[in-house]
Amino acid sequence: MPTTANAKRKILVTSALPYANGSIHLGHLLEYIQTDIWVRFQKSRGNECHYVCADDAHGTAIMLRAEQEGVTSEQLIERVSKEHQADFARFGVAFDNYHSTHSEENRIHSERIYTALRDAGHISTRDIEQMYDPVKGLFLADRFIKGTCPKCKTPDQYGDNCEACGATYTPAELIDPVSAISGATPEVRSSTHYFFKLPDFEEFLKRWTRAGHVQPQIANKLQEWFEAGLNEWDISRDAPYFGFEIPDAPGKYFYVWLDAPIGYLASFQNLCEREGIDFDSYWKKDSDAEVYHFIGKDIVYFHALFWPAMLEGAGMRTPTAINCHGFVTVNGAKMSKSRGTFIKAETYAEYLNPEYLRYYFAAKLTSRVDDLDLNLEDFAYRVNSDLVGKVVNIASRCAGFVKKLGAGKLSATSVEPELLARFIAAGDEIAEDFEVREFGRAMRKIMELADEANTYIADKEPWALAKQEGREQEVLDICSVGINLFRQLMVYLAPVVPAMADEARVFLNLDSLDWHTRHDVLEDHAINKFKPLMTRIERDKIDAMVEASKEDIAVEKKLKEAAKGPLVDTPLADEIAFDDFAKVDLRIVRIAKAEYVEGADKLLKLTLDLGGETRTVFSGIRSAYAPEALEGHLTVMVANLAPRKMRFGVSEGMVLAAGDGKGIYLLEPHSGAEPGQRVT
Ligand code: MSP
Ligand code: ZN
Repeated sequence: MPTTANAKRKILVTSALPYANGSIHLGHLLEYIQTDIWVRFQKSRGNECHYVCADDAHGTAIMLRAEQEGVTSEQLIERVSKEHQADFARFGVAFDNYHSTHSEENRIHSERIYTALRDAGHISTRDIEQMYDPVKGLFLADRFIKGTCPKCKTPDQYGDNCEACGATYTPAELIDPVSAISGATPEVRSSTHYFFKLPDFEEFLKRWTRAGHVQPQIANKLQEWFEAGLNEWDISRDAPYFGFEIPDAPGKYFYVWLDAPIGYLASFQNLCEREGIDFDSYWKKDSDAEVYHFIGKDIVYFHALFWPAMLEGAGMRTPTAINCHGFVTVNGAKMSKSRGTFIKAETYAEYLNPEYLRYYFAAKLTSRVDDLDLNLEDFAYRVNSDLVGKVVNIASRCAGFVKKLGAGKLSATSVEPELLARFIAAGDEIAEDFEVREFGRAMRKIMELADEANTYIADKEPWALAKQEGREQEVLDICSVGINLFRQLMVYLAPVVPAMADEARVFLNLDSLDWHTRHDVLEDHAINKFKPLMTRIERDKIDAMVEASKEDIAVEKKLKEAAKGPLVDTPLADEIAFDDFAKVDLRIVRIAKAEYVEGADKLLKLTLDLGGETRTVFSGIRSAYAPEALEGHLTVMVANLAPRKMRFGVSEGMVLAAGDGKGIYLLEPHSGAEPGQRVT
């Protein structure tokens, strides 16, 4: 990665394109804030950096959603795009361009890339069998089919696995399958599909992933995928489909994930045309520009395999790096609608300053793929103590004396040249942290400097000196140093809290807080009237936001239930004899490890400790729990269930949870129970 300090780098940066059928929430915001901080940092350093994004507008989900709302797909995506952009603006996420995958630029690039791949022999076709809704006249993806689980007989299960027992199956194995869209019984029909021959790129991809373009954790994941073998990728969908028709294939459309990453090119193209940037100088094979994609860990397959292969196959350059982040949890658990921790960007912004969140995310972000917990207690504490208590405090302690004793002007010479020089020099290391996305480390260094600045002022006690006759110049000198130190800190914090930094810039009476400007010390310099730059987080605002998030959900739920009709309770099972019950060996276990399962959006892989013995169990509880929230907890398992081979491995038992389709609640024994104990 080029980090030469002087040469001006050419950098293109993207965040993943949010789906055009849902609102932006705090989970999304981690990504857009992380990217935006990095981009603002690059711009502050004087690099030529372009940040583009777009709405991901195609696909069946969007088509059906529009239909439900009684509008056209175009009307829906138009409205959602405006909402998304308003949310991003509130959070200071400053794209240089925000476009749509449903755009002319995207159609042209998608056709061009597809045609290049086809002409080079990387596209194949074959017939596949699929469930078809005869009423809607639509092929059904797995998640649009519902039925009774063939294993545990729980009704109303989606797609290819059961939320209740974790079993996986093909939709054809469901008992009484129905289309979740029309309620009709689906038929099996055959149609021709188009495939991208990913295995053609195996050698290329192996080389590419080992050449430092992905983080180590991702490289390991990719290694597993290589070992499992790469498959051809189904890139076509039959009409009706909201998307682009495939060239020379009437009635066949590009699958949404084919044209989604091409949307990065489309948005950039649109920017290039508006601003006269040379598109090819960024995307031609031997380009000297850098290209970075920021993404979440759930979409690695698309970005680290399909996307570089597509670009390579089309004779274009591949990304400099894929920068992948983990998932946001709130208070240690997956964002939950019932707990009010599934918080929309808009709801947050009604109650709290978006820059609090930007700072908190920055303080916890690393360059790794780990999940990030937004602990609401810690959030209030950190922001209040760091930003308000440490940083703003420096300015507010000094500003009054500068106004009173220097008529608003700082001293003509700095009395602490060494202290200041150290603050300036620290900018080099902090810059290196920003560059490699170790934002948390950067924030710690900045707060250490803030502590030093506060200690300096506290030791000098300007407020005490100010009461003594004839020491006015001394007081002004001390406070001028304080203001200069504050200025250094604001240069370093500006990518993280741009709105606060801009107010600080006005207060400091400066044109810019760009990185290099920190070298000129402010002497004999007039500053403006001080206004509080940030106020403390009030706990009741956090509570109100959580309550409001519950309300958002309550309204949505009512609407959904009204559309569905009454819920049917699960009837009690038939009576059994005690001997039957005694056959079930229930044991207390400790959840030693919990992990996501790639490719299974309902399952978690649990490693269970039975007091010596270890078992692996796949459990359909992902919608309710973040893996970290489970580790260390005790629960109850059926220890003598016959092992079951699933798509992802062998499940050696099952954990017990209550569930009624509204939530999933894992059983946990009272404290004192030990792993391995039998439950009777
Ligand atoms: N449309 C696709 C991306 C196409 S990119 C060519 C998509 N959209 S999304 O709206 O579901 O997600 C957008 C981004 O937000 C993804 O990178 C995703 O990982 C990220 N996040 C969504 N929920 C998240 C959390 N709870 N936590 C952190 N990031 C999350 O995927
Ligand atoms: Zn089941």
